[in-house]
Amino acid sequence: MIRREFLVRTLSAAVASLFARDVFAQHSMHDMHGTHDMSGMGDMKDMPGMSQDHAAHSHAASSAGHLASETALPAGAPLASFRKLVNESSEPGVFRATLVAQPVRRQLVPGHSTALWLYGDAAQGSIVGPLIDVREGDTVEIRFVNRLPQPSTIHWHGLPVPPDQDGNPTNPVAPGATHVYRFTLPRGSAGTYWYHPHPHMMTAEQVFRGLAGPIIVRAADDPLAAFPERHLFFSDLKLASDASIAPNDMMDWMNGREGQFVLVNGARRPRLTVAQDERWRLWNGCSARYLRLSLGGERTFTQVGTDGGLLDKPRDGLTELLLAPGERAEMVVRAGAQPSTAVLTAAVHDRRKMTMTEGRSLPADPAKALADVRFEPGPAAAARAVPPTLRPIAPLLSSADTAAGKVPRKSVVFAEAMDMKAMHRPGAMMSTLPPGMKFMVNGATFDPSHIALTSRAGEVEVWSIENRTDMDHPFHLHGTQFQVIEREQTGAKTPEPYLAWRDTVDVRRGETVRIATVQRDAGERMFHCHILEHEDLGMMATLKVV
Ligand code: C2O
Ligand code: CU
Ligand code: CU
Repeated sequence: MIRREFLVRTLSAAVASLFARDVFAQHSMHDMHGTHDMSGMGDMKDMPGMSQDHAAHSHAASSAGHLASETALPAGAPLASFRKLVNESSEPGVFRATLVAQPVRRQLVPGHSTALWLYGDAAQGSIVGPLIDVREGDTVEIRFVNRLPQPSTIHWHGLPVPPDQDGNPTNPVAPGATHVYRFTLPRGSAGTYWYHPHPHMMTAEQVFRGLAGPIIVRAADDPLAAFPERHLFFSDLKLASDASIAPNDMMDWMNGREGQFVLVNGARRPRLTVAQDERWRLWNGCSARYLRLSLGGERTFTQVGTDGGLLDKPRDGLTELLLAPGERAEMVVRAGAQPSTAVLTAAVHDRRKMTMTEGRSLPADPAKALADVRFEPGPAAAARAVPPTLRPIAPLLSSADTAAGKVPRKSVVFAEAMDMKAMHRPGAMMSTLPPGMKFMVNGATFDPSHIALTSRAGEVEVWSIENRTDMDHPFHLHGTQFQVIEREQTGAKTPEPYLAWRDTVDVRRGETVRIATVQRDAGERMFHCHILEHEDLGMMATLKVV
């Protein structure tokens, strides 16, 4: 009961101006977390006694009148397909292309122009970065041209690329510079991935301004190749009333940014028609929003894949699927026997978002409609069978090794330190990072010069990821796909019921998730919370593989 009470503090527009890039650009790598510029202050007003409904919309409340309305973006257009990154190579097995990150103006709200940062020229088509559609065995060579006013990198989220090709924050590409990323996709890497910037402390902003795109790696022997594919890339957008990209406010930094819009392939609430059984690939490219996906009521679907590709066996009869920020999934959606309609919805989900009052949480996120689906099975739409075995997945951990105690163990602890006094101090907001909030891994915020953990290439390890904070955090590890072994909550252990390859896993408040993982290449890998504001605030660390 008491957790449902709260105190919302509103932030004036000036106070909420937390655009960091100018200040970031001037800081050296080392003093960023310690230095707070106290300029750009404003006053904060207490607004006690608001109703629960208002609390659920605290974002809107905190910037009331400054955000575009929830219907400002047109809805109801047919689902856009991705732009495609064109292969400039004619050599077999080589995918060579150019990706330009640049400021682009687009008319999203009729009559207004929005300054975005996008991949590709994007004068037309979806604002989602172009699809990189490649095959196992391909050598991929992407020339990245940075036309942003900030340093950037491209990170190949989930792909087993060499550490020095993975867009680490310690390998920035300067504004105006060009960099070539090169890697070869191994056998078994078929799956659904994405790419996004990963510069030190500027990832959140670059993504919320529009930089992110999908990758599909295909296998020659794909058991679901006969299914027509549908691609749904979810992203978040927060627009000010003048249709500009709104800055982060205090609540965005604390809980991760959630806009008033969830976009599907770059548009609000598109519609799609399913005329036969389809394979859906889903990307949660939102900065912080969890998507508890449902087709409404009792309508079921079959999950066939996770981040790193197909499951060993399909999971039938699901009515919902939780995708944490950064996660992907594949599912088979049936056209059914009769025409019908459904709303693809992000159902109610409680990730224990915090308020600015110690120990209090916001209510669960309300349901949000994402897309309108019409099922129109044609006369030729015979149901396609999903094979009972999709591909073999061997457990990374052999029980013999575990029993013999031969498996190296590592511990990752997510923690937070909230100094509510500092957060509420008059004029507490400034032009860099918000004061009084620390999101930590193993007791420290990210320091690019510090190695938190060291692993040996080729050695399978068990990692325990423990969440000691008051809210949920999606854990992500670079360079590999891992297997979740079990989850532990208040002493009760639940073994993971199915084998899957993942690079991102949600760790609930108070929970410990155990994974089996192995790195193949020597070098430095990042691991972090995939709520991008938390990552930028320091909930990230470096794994050194030797
Ligand atoms: Cu998708 Cu290190 O990130
Ligand atoms: Cu990643
Ligand atoms: Cu987090």
